[in-house]
Amino acid sequence: MPITEDFLQSFEQGLNPQFPERSKIPAKIVGFGEISSIFKINPYNDWVIKRLPLFTKKKEANLYSINYNTYTSKLKQAGLGLPKDKIFIISDKKVVLYLAQEALKKEDLCQNKLHSLSNDKVIEMLNNILFNIKKIEDFNRKNKPEIELSIDGQVSNWALVNNNELLYFDTSTPLFKINGKEQLDPELLLNSTPKALRWIIRKFFLQEVMDRYYDIRLVFIDLIANLYKEKRQDLIDETIKNANKLLPENVGMITRKEVDKYYANDKFIWQLFLALRRMDRWLTTNIFNKQYEFILPGKIKR
Ligand SMILES: Nc1ncnc2c1ncn2[C@@H]1O[C@H](COP(=O)(O)OP(=O)(O)OP(=O)(O)O)[C@@H](O)[C@H]1O
Ligand SMILES: [Mg+2]
Repeated sequence: MPITEDFLQSFEQGLNPQFPERSKIPAKIVGFGEISSIFKINPYNDWVIKRLPLFTKKKEANLYSINYNTYTSKLKQAGLGLPKDKIFIISDKKVVLYLAQEALKKEDLCQNKLHSLSNDKVIEMLNNILFNIKKIEDFNRKNKPEIELSIDGQVSNWALVNNNELLYFDTSTPLFKINGKEQLDPELLLNSTPKALRWIIRKFFLQEVMDRYYDIRLVFIDLIANLYKEKRQDLIDETIKNANKLLPENVGMITRKEVDKYYANDKFIWQLFLALRRMDRWLTTNIFNKQYEFILPGKIKR
């Protein structure tokens, strides 16, 4: 059943962002985004709905939506498979952008396939992911500086559907550059972070985190280091070997030591970040009596 703007308008009006299942139109949480909450709503079971409450003006949401469309069409041009999608902008008291995306089956998510497929098939799947990340690198090399695309290549952003068709679905942060200039206003991403800490994040983390998605070597390292979090560290050495085969000649080979160091550092940053967001949520709801817009994950096993 197709989703309509009217429906999302009613959904937004009755939404309880902290307990979506208690909303007027109840919704089930299917995933936690850094900047979005991801729901399923009966009877629209063919779709997941990503809610981005990042905007203060309709104009910002419109621009985001234009950027989104450019980004996704360029990803496709580069050769990636993407799920069907549609954007809605709801502006009532708040401006919220909703991205409806074709719902993928749980068992098709690569994150789950890491544990359900045979080792050979998992390595094949990881090679397929590496190869698709390389497509973005090739596209960038051909099209820089007119356009340059970012990609977040972690296993949790891909699905393997039908006959080995790989889909990339983490499209809701459309980072790309035109003539070297980032098209997404980084301040929008900061809207999902605690106000009191924005200057620290701006000063120490933001640029580094944004840049890392444009650098194939770092995208590979990020993907590989994440295998720790996915409890498949047994695959790390082989994946490093396979990733190194795809790196351009002028960049150094990835080493295990580097992956381990990256993981320790990244784990520290994200745990700190999540702890600070939890504190901010507590202050917002208990001390300032305001609505906290984001849903934070529970304990993450790392
Ligand atoms: N189309 C989909 N079908 C089924 N599950 C999905 C779909 N999109 C997302 N999910 C689930 O939600 C999780 C987070 O989604 P996604 O990768 O889009 O968010 P994210 O990584 O936090 O990105 P962002 O911070 O940009 O919102 C996924 O790992 C997956 O488990
Ligand atoms: Mg993701």
